[in-house]
Amino acid sequence: MKKGIRKIYQEVAPTYELVNHILTFGMDVLWRKRTACLAAKIGAGEKYASRTSRPFFILDVCSGTGEMARDMAVRMRGKKAPKASIYAADGSLSMISRAKNKKHLRSVRFTLADAGRLPFPDRTFDLITVSFSTRNLNPDSQAMLSYLQEFLRILKPGGVFLNLETSQPPLSLIKTLYHLYIRLVVKPLGYLISGSRGGYNYLSYTMPRFYDAQGFSSLCRQAGFSFARHRLLFLGVAAIHTARK
Ligand SMILES: C[S@@+](CC[C@H](N)C(=O)[O-])C[C@H]1O[C@@H](n2cnc3c(N)ncnc32)[C@H](O)[C@@H]1O
Repeated sequence: MKKGIRKIYQEVAPTYELVNHILTFGMDVLWRKRTACLAAKIGAGEKYASRTSRPFFILDVCSGTGEMARDMAVRMRGKKAPKASIYAADGSLSMISRAKNKKHLRSVRFTLADAGRLPFPDRTFDLITVSFSTRNLNPDSQAMLSYLQEFLRILKPGGVFLNLETSQPPLSLIKTLYHLYIRLVVKPLGYLISGSRGGYNYLSYTMPRFYDAQGFSSLCRQAGFSFARHRLLFLGVAAIHTARK
């Protein structure tokens, strides 16, 4: 993980969740829950298909303050949900330490690790989730491909990568308004609440430049996933991608 990015997450960690909830009008919470619901469905389907009682191994990469891992831990408790073993990895100790004492996260195993060099053997996980982080990894497509290939390495054959990320609305008017919102609201308000100018300069730089949903699906296929599809969220300002090894 780059030093600059680590410094940003050290600065924003205390207010990270609050700023997200305000800037997205709470939609980030709903989107993570929806992703967790998909994760549980995938787990239930796999278990049914393989007819084994082995746990469903999940890794949440760039887990931050643990909201996605928590939502999955809660979901996986349902009667129809698979028995899951959840791991979480992030490159920032400040973010991980906020996650560790949360309710529902005691059973999640946290690791301090770079998303590009995950400390797990090949073919370990049935599912990898990433939320609001692929945009942070590296905007360069070659670098992004190598992160995706690292995810492929530790996924079992047939394993699934679920990615929740901001995207680019397909309608140009909505896209223009969305980019204006990032520049005029996200950047100054994020700075005002968190006190981190660098953090919200970086966020408002990466958001308009990230792939559109089709582009990210293509990149997943280019990395070697056999199948990639997406669903758009709230007019396409975000998207959930599902890609299979
Ligand atoms: C925007 S936060 C997202 C956190 C969480 N997934 C969520 O849904 O809110 C991005 C997280 O990615 C982590 N991160 C960024 N680059 C990373 C890298 N190369 N390796 C590991 N973690 C990284 C940061 O430390 C931060 O916790």
